[in-house]
Amino acid sequence: MTARKVLVQMMGAVSLLIAAPSAMAQVKEVEVVHWWTSGGEAAALNVLKQNLQKQGIGWKDAPIAGGGGTQAMTVLRARVTAGNIPTAVQMLGFDILDWAEQGSLGDLTDVATKEGWDKVVPAALQNFSKYKGKWIAAPVNVHSTNWVWANKAVLDKLGVTPPKSWDEFVAALDKAKAAGVVPLAHGGQPWQDATLFDSVVLVTGGGDFYKKSMIDLDDATLKSDKMKTVFERMAKLRTYVDPNFSGRDWNLASAMVIKGDAAFQIMGDWAKGEFINAGKKPDTDFLCFRFPGTQGYVTFNSDQFVMFKVGDDRKDAQVKMALAVMDPAFQSAFNVVKGSVPARTDVSNEAFDACGKKGMADLKEANAQGKLFGSMAHGHAAPAAVKQAMYDVITKHFNGQLDTAKAPDELAKAVAAAK
Ligand code: GAL
Repeated sequence: MTARKVLVQMMGAVSLLIAAPSAMAQVKEVEVVHWWTSGGEAAALNVLKQNLQKQGIGWKDAPIAGGGGTQAMTVLRARVTAGNIPTAVQMLGFDILDWAEQGSLGDLTDVATKEGWDKVVPAALQNFSKYKGKWIAAPVNVHSTNWVWANKAVLDKLGVTPPKSWDEFVAALDKAKAAGVVPLAHGGQPWQDATLFDSVVLVTGGGDFYKKSMIDLDDATLKSDKMKTVFERMAKLRTYVDPNFSGRDWNLASAMVIKGDAAFQIMGDWAKGEFINAGKKPDTDFLCFRFPGTQGYVTFNSDQFVMFKVGDDRKDAQVKMALAVMDPAFQSAFNVVKGSVPARTDVSNEAFDACGKKGMADLKEANAQGKLFGSMAHGHAAPAAVKQAMYDVITKHFNGQLDTAKAPDELAKAVAAAK
């Protein structure tokens, strides 16, 4: 064989090698597990579906209702165990790291490097988007839990302006109660009780106390007198919810504020999605403000999409979905509807309403000041087992099945056992 022939044959083999992956028939569809089933959430999800459809990628919906994603994570575990693995999954904080540790997640480092994600995703988020130096998730947003949502007409009628401290908040809640309005719209589900807890910990002890108890899981701090004050305040909030609160979904609690049946809701900024979806305008129909006394701080959670290790025939679609999620124009369009703020720092605030602009400015400031902390309630402070242990104690106490005096010790014990 001549040298030329050998070379031609070798080149043929190389080009075959290169051609192989793209020659493989690619599935032009993603099956996505998520818990975005409320009106506002579904509207935001549509922005993503349409974005993918434009790129020729179909959307197979696998919704699992239940705010905060508790049920979704249970169903996901069962599906993976049964070998019925979805293409992509909405996921939060420590859950992402758990699945990465088990080796279940696809590696997005190539696309992340090419697109420069390192430069535009804040370090606080990268802590959950990367595992051992590799990108394993695409962050779509940043939500935060220390918000209050209020019906403006109701507040005007009560002669109440947004409270600035715990005491002012209590005074406003009392006024609503005296006027026969439900002061606090709330749904009695563990993750919602825990969402209140995020803010009450923060306002009671400040950033150091939040970090020591919720993130460092320091035993002495968990059982401290200050933690007793936290539980006292939780018991106080309990006196402002209506008798039908048990089991109510968060979006139905939002609807109470939207309709003017209730004055306030303490909830993450996904609640804004419900107000917007109902055609309501910030400052005109509803007010958004930081949980009184926590201005400057942000307890965040970020929805990220992970790509499970499935066949090579799904890789194209997974990469396209990751690219779509991280597209700056998409991050603006999606988060305007969702109530969250972009995960990328290079997205303009132009398209956002007053609450969105405030959310973006608050996030930037909190990040710069060291006042940005992961939300316990939404899986960004401690691993799932610890979160669940905290949920149990908080909910038991909120429902009057655990004395305030005993609650801090119970919390410390539960956390120690779950660590
Ligand atoms: C959060 C999630 C939000 C929102 C909320 C209620 O955990 O990050 O996107 O959907 O649950 O379902």
